Amino acid sequence: MKTEELIPNAQEARVLKMLRALANPARFRIVLVLAERKDCTSGQLAELLPLAQSSLFDHLAALREAGVVQVSSDGPNPNRYYCLDPSAIDFLTAYLSGLGQQARSWKELVKVAQKERTMEIRDATREDAAAIAHIYNQGIEDRSATLETQLRTAEERAEWLAARSSRHPVLVALDQSGAVVGWASLNSFNPRPAYDYVVDFSVYVARERRGQGIGDALLGALEERARLLGYHKMVLAAFPGNAPGMRLYERHEFQMVGIYHEQGMLDNKWVDVVLMEKLLH
Ligand SMILES: CC(C)(COP(=O)(O)OP(=O)(O)OC[C@H]1O[C@@H](n2cnc3c(N)ncnc32)[C@H](O)[C@@H]1OP(=O)(O)O)[C@@H](O)C(=O)NCCC(=O)NCCS
Repeated sequence: MKTEELIPNAQEARVLKMLRALANPARFRIVLVLAERKDCTSGQLAELLPLAQSSLFDHLAALREAGVVQVSSDGPNPNRYYCLDPSAIDFLTAYLSGLGQQARSWKELVKVAQKERTMEIRDATREDAAAIAHIYNQGIEDRSATLETQLRTAEERAEWLAARSSRHPVLVALDQSGAVVGWASLNSFNPRPAYDYVVDFSVYVARERRGQGIGDALLGALEERARLLGYHKMVLAAFPGNAPGMRLYERHEFQMVGIYHEQGMLDNKWVDVVLMEKLLH
């Protein structure tokens, strides 16, 4: 069994000292007040915080010792001004944010980089109809995405696009070359006015481009649009065995509402359908 004590390096020691000093509700409040007021005398702090003078001085001393708080050197004790050391707070923030960056998985970093470098998402136009039909047909043929079985043509999708209202937009994701690699739409859930604030949606990514963060980006953009359009809730129906779809919805914090068992007949087999929802407000 190893019994050696871990010796922190200088940077770790500074972080630990600051965290220890801050891990106290009274000191935390002192820091919040100093951040807001820029500087204060101990008398002003005592007026603002329910602390006895002696414990206030102890806390200030601990914060000074940790390098979080500075004090003006001139003047007698009651007129000294206390303020935060901004560079100390910046140091702590930079250290923790560096840890956050490291903690993100490599896969996620690659995904974010790919998205930032290559992704454009915009409203679909008539010119996108052929690509949308192609990608939709891949999803239909896969038999893991939809109960739809009828393949579509570019003309049919062009009519579908033309018939959509501004409350039911279609978005497309483009790669660096401008090719459509995925699409997503907000669909009417139910025409009754009482359901005006609920919207159904679809998201489809080209087979060869799946697993690269495109579905994630499309769903993020769709959710943003749904909020802008004033929807209260997004809902979906999916196959429980659609692992990428379920993962995508989980990631976007959709909650399971229930399962319709043996809801559809696809290729002579019963399929279950999962219902999910996400409240937007
Ligand atoms: C479902 C679909 C839209 C997801 O889009 P995507 O671009 O492939 O997915 P992303 O790369 O954005 O990944 C989303 C999540 O699914 C996970 N995922 C992707 N492919 C996966 C796979 N084959 N198996 C398991 N999980 C997978 C990703 O790891 C990611 O989860 P994470 O962020 O926790 O790592 C896409 O796969 C697709 O178009 N499928 C066919 C059509 C379809 O099923 N549409 C949904 C109908 S309900």
